Amino acid sequence: MPVTISVIKADVGGLVGHTNMHPDLIDAAGEFLDAAVEAGTLHDHTVMAVGDDLELILTHGHGEESPDIHRLAWDCFVQCAEVADKLGLYGVGQDLREKTFAGNVTGLGPGSAEIELEDRASEPLLVFMADKTDAGCWNLPLFKMFGDPFNTPGLVIDPKMNKGYSYEVLDLHLDRVADIRLPEELYDLLALIGSVEHYGIRRVRRNTDNAVAACTSASKVFQLKGKSVGKDDPVMIVRAQSGYPSVGELTEPFAHPHMVAGWMRGSHWGPLMPVPFHQTGMNRFDGPPKVVCAGFQVTAGKLHGPVDIFDDPAFDGARREAIEIADYLRKMGPFEPHRFSEGGMEYTSMPHVLQKLEGRFRPASNPVAVEAK
Ligand code: F6R
Ligand code: MG
Ligand code: MG
Repeated sequence: MPVTISVIKADVGGLVGHTNMHPDLIDAAGEFLDAAVEAGTLHDHTVMAVGDDLELILTHGHGEESPDIHRLAWDCFVQCAEVADKLGLYGVGQDLREKTFAGNVTGLGPGSAEIELEDRASEPLLVFMADKTDAGCWNLPLFKMFGDPFNTPGLVIDPKMNKGYSYEVLDLHLDRVADIRLPEELYDLLALIGSVEHYGIRRVRRNTDNAVAACTSASKVFQLKGKSVGKDDPVMIVRAQSGYPSVGELTEPFAHPHMVAGWMRGSHWGPLMPVPFHQTGMNRFDGPPKVVCAGFQVTAGKLHGPVDIFDDPAFDGARREAIEIADYLRKMGPFEPHRFSEGGMEYTSMPHVLQKLEGRFRPASNPVAVEAK
């Protein structure tokens, strides 16, 4: 029987603003999902937190995009939001933007990534979870993992890998996808996914058999009640070993922090810092953007793990580099390119400022600055 792994996440309330998670929410989600395991709906689950996001890692036999599993996750988030409400946490129900569930969490606020795993003798996989950034943050690491032989020597020296991988590239604005095949279409892929705010990667497939190697929570950016949803604080599942990149080839892209969108007020660029599970607090300038990596062996639906992959001094250099980049950027204050350009900002006072100054603009050819009184 094929097993599906679903990672479904939402921010239902933060402990001290948008920075951390209250342990009672993790307990509430755990109890809710334990009952679903007992009822036979789930095989297994792990509940985690990154910054102010609650992450449900579920295994089951219902396949991808199952309304039953999405409803279960939705009901779990609603119950946790009630706990958050009682505790008076901040931003209660932030990612539960609709009152009623409509078949799939996508577009309602939560994010999800899912892979139906065909039988393998052993199933090692990694779940990456990030806060204070958006789906485009996976573009560069996914390129390196599955497309860059300087990162992944298996592409060159493992006969099970050297037919390459194809990327399902999602146009985040128009909700359309294109499959781009590597290595043949390397430059076309880079032309698209270098635009991290326009294109995300939804899936990566192995060319030899079309098996899904990676899936992210990238989805069209929906506008709900004046806010864009479905792009924030993304997750990604990646399969490892035996014809997929090794665990080390999957973690290597995070040895250098690349720049991602979404820091402070969803309006700033910052370095993506790999951190252990106990260091995901968004305590400096509501960040910096952080990523954790949970390693699992999935055996007959059971999740063995999580292994805290970035809890390793080998990533200390990346953390130091991220702090240096953060220090450098913060000196720029409200100036681009630390701050987004006007169009992409989640918060902006620009219309208000322009309205206030409307009568103050004069033709540039008029040299008189202030009328003499
Ligand atoms: C960014 C984020 C925070 C908030 C900021 C303002 O994703 O969650 O940086 O945008 O703390 O929050 P409000 O508007 O709730 O005061
Ligand atoms: Mg929040
Ligand atoms: Mg968040």
